[in-house]
Amino acid sequence: MSNYHIKHLEEYYQVYRKSVRNPENFWEEIAEEHFVWRKRWDKVLSWDFSKPEVKWYEGAQLNITENCIDRHLRTRGTKTAILFEPNDPSEEAEHISYQQLYARVNQFANVLKEQGIQKGDRVCIYLPMIPELAISTLACARVGAIHSVVFAGFSATALSTRINDSDCKMVITSDGSYRGPKTIDLKGIVDEALEDCSCVATVLVAKRIHTDINMKDGRDQWLQPLLDNASTECEPEIMNAEDPLFILYTSGSTGKPKGMVHTTAGYMVYTAFTFKNAFQYRENDVYWCTADIGWITGHSYIVYGPLANGATSVMFEGVPNYPDWGRFWEIVEKHKITQFYTAPTAIRALAKENLDFVEKYDLSSLKVLGSVGEPINDEAWHWYDGNIGKKKSPIIDTWWQTETGGIMISPIPYATPTKPTYATLPFPGIQPTLMDENGQEIKGNQVDGRLCIKFPWPSMARTIWGNHERYRDTYFTAYKNMYFTGDGALRDEVGYYRITGRVDDVIIVSGHNLGTAPIEDSINEHQAVAESAIVGFPHDIKGNALYGYVILKETGESRNPDNLRKEINQIITEHIGPIAKLDKIQFTSGLPKTRSGKIMRRILRKIASNDTNNLGDTSTLLNPEVVQEIMDNVL
Ligand code: PRX
Repeated sequence: MSNYHIKHLEEYYQVYRKSVRNPENFWEEIAEEHFVWRKRWDKVLSWDFSKPEVKWYEGAQLNITENCIDRHLRTRGTKTAILFEPNDPSEEAEHISYQQLYARVNQFANVLKEQGIQKGDRVCIYLPMIPELAISTLACARVGAIHSVVFAGFSATALSTRINDSDCKMVITSDGSYRGPKTIDLKGIVDEALEDCSCVATVLVAKRIHTDINMKDGRDQWLQPLLDNASTECEPEIMNAEDPLFILYTSGSTGKPKGMVHTTAGYMVYTAFTFKNAFQYRENDVYWCTADIGWITGHSYIVYGPLANGATSVMFEGVPNYPDWGRFWEIVEKHKITQFYTAPTAIRALAKENLDFVEKYDLSSLKVLGSVGEPINDEAWHWYDGNIGKKKSPIIDTWWQTETGGIMISPIPYATPTKPTYATLPFPGIQPTLMDENGQEIKGNQVDGRLCIKFPWPSMARTIWGNHERYRDTYFTAYKNMYFTGDGALRDEVGYYRITGRVDDVIIVSGHNLGTAPIEDSINEHQAVAESAIVGFPHDIKGNALYGYVILKETGESRNPDNLRKEINQIITEHIGPIAKLDKIQFTSGLPKTRSGKIMRRILRKIASNDTNNLGDTSTLLNPEVVQEIMDNVL
């Protein structure tokens, strides 16, 4: 990849043009350098978006862990691969070298094998941000098992839905987790989830908070004694390029969560390439991404991308405000962080606090600041730039998705001039375009439209687990021969992109994707609720917050509204998790509907956002009178 460490704008354009003129050559050259292939590919790319079918590096054989660990041993054996910073700052940080990572991943892989896990089996990982999370993920990849990491903030119901959807044989969890001053009973959540999961034969339990927990005979096993008895050598399973590496669930606008399937070779090449260029990674850098490995950002840019480059990747167990709001900056100073990658919601929360929390610490090691997960507003951008980067570290506003596997649109730091709130230019190999509502491509600059991608890239998801039709319908039917992202975007006079937000019924709250339908389904389970509709409204820290319009059954009308609100949020917490709780709940006698019975969310969104000067066309409404009632009672 040394050919492609882009250092200035002209070089970016040269590489970009090359990548578009001849994508196969471009991606072949990148794959040829620096990776270990057990067998070379026969064909770089075959694709057909109408099926859709995409194959990269077909015929190649490899194991991604050999690329992320083994090949660094000779030159970087003692270098820190994973730097674990615990929740409690008085607990010592743990430096796991590449040599130690090799031993620990192999031990874990041998445990998986002993427990009957084979190539292609699905393993659910439900762990806090402790080293075992990265290690178990890599151990699955070592033996060819497909990992499905579920963010440990999801509820038992959300966990069991995901376990059942991909028929996981095993769950890896811990006795509990720390979250700032609190502890969370993770094992209790797993026990509850597994009441509904007959597919799970084994639960491996890591010890983290050392509390008494229930261990079910014949199913649950403590992890550590098994690891202690396992060999530190484990031959990697040889995988085909297109064998699935992992499943990761993301919310859709309707129905159950979508298990996005990522495959091995293309994902590896793309995450390695983008990590190196998006963060301008250099050998002795200490890179920190604050995401959780339960999200795609953690998969691609805590685990696979950094380790494929032999980097030092920091894993932080805690939260930004424990013991106080200076924790992030204390960590930056302590470990001399060079690249820092976080979400706008965190930046906004930090910006609200006293600047003393920032100014107490030496942040001069920082070279690149990243942002991901939602649009970054102007104010947050400038706060980040001025107070954290001291106007010296470029901000890379990286746009991408669980489905894209890696960063798609982003400045290349020190090469692309940044522009606040703009994700700027596509990565080499990425061909974005804007489409209008009639399916026409919008040419030229200073335009806005729906963001699509015209050509495949190596790390795109290949399917939705168990539902290829849904994959096609969601991403490939809106516009012929294009991948539709679900986002709207602007393109400015120089061709920079600015992502404006979702154009479907997905709402991004604190950087988390939430589909409206599953939340509405849970609310409707309350016995006093007849119907509900959820929309997003602007929130100064979360980006968006959730506003619920709820129609009560007769039985609910006499109840205390505040108690009902609490119960509704309790149901949402049980079904999905606390991240999906509603900020505001308005009870109403009706919802604005079209004659075909569709809820007009556009109107509800405007009312919730206090933007009622122009409600747009309401002529197709079946019940226009309800709009006034809702406006009169808005919260
Ligand atoms: O709407 C876009 C928003 O997050 C969505 C993808 O969410 P998820 O699959 O959870 O992945 C998040 C981490 C990659 C996108 O469709 N999004 C992500 N990054 C940005 C963004 N919106 C604006 N600017 C970004 N930089």
